[in-house]
Amino acid sequence: MKIRLDKYLTEMSVGSRSEVKKAIIKGLTEVNGETVKKPEQKIDPALDQVCFQGRRITYAAMEYYMLNKPAGVISASEDRHETTVVDLITEKKRKDLFPVGRLDKDTEGLLLITNDGELAHRLLSPKKHVDKVYYAKIAGKVTEEDKKVFAEGVDIGEDKLTLPAKLHILKSGEESEITLTIREGKFHQVKRMFHAVGKEVVYLKRLRMGSLVLDENLKTGEYRALTDEERRTLTGENE
Ligand code: URA
Repeated sequence: MKIRLDKYLTEMSVGSRSEVKKAIIKGLTEVNGETVKKPEQKIDPALDQVCFQGRRITYAAMEYYMLNKPAGVISASEDRHETTVVDLITEKKRKDLFPVGRLDKDTEGLLLITNDGELAHRLLSPKKHVDKVYYAKIAGKVTEEDKKVFAEGVDIGEDKLTLPAKLHILKSGEESEITLTIREGKFHQVKRMFHAVGKEVVYLKRLRMGSLVLDENLKTGEYRALTDEERRTLTGENE
């Protein structure tokens, strides 16, 4: 699909629409080696080569990043006071990226950052029951009884019990370590589930969402673009 030159450059964060228009009229843009002074010139992103002030600007209609969210940043696109997860994606081309779902400010781990609204809808829709896997440290002894309760559904103060969730105990003691697989995404869900059995989550990290697994090589706060394979599996192109 063809798009206007000024839109192309604006979407790739070269400047605001009016700055970009002025720069094009000044003759700072080349398309396939020729100076183009018309902001409305149509560009085929798959075929045309666009340079702005001598720099090649490639087009990305969609971007997909995996972030290992650190504690202390908020799951939002922008905020006047706080650092957001989107601020951490320093090499993004587009300005319309958002996090797919929310992790609490103190939660770490896997967060998908994209501008693909359709994918976000599919991953977040309550009807789709996409698995989310968390690792957590829990103050208190997590027991086989908790496992049973979570498998049957917990009352966290909503209309219905939580859907069956799979609790795996890695270490049980004064401080326990667990993984928990849930198929919903209610506000503070993991913390509320443990609260319901009289325990407190002291550390929480998401490891997986649907087919997307947190890359172990990503340190806390680091991110990378999804591989083509990860993207295709997630968007259902591989089905
Ligand atoms: N459950 C929580 O309690 N917090 C999160 O950030 C994610 C799931």
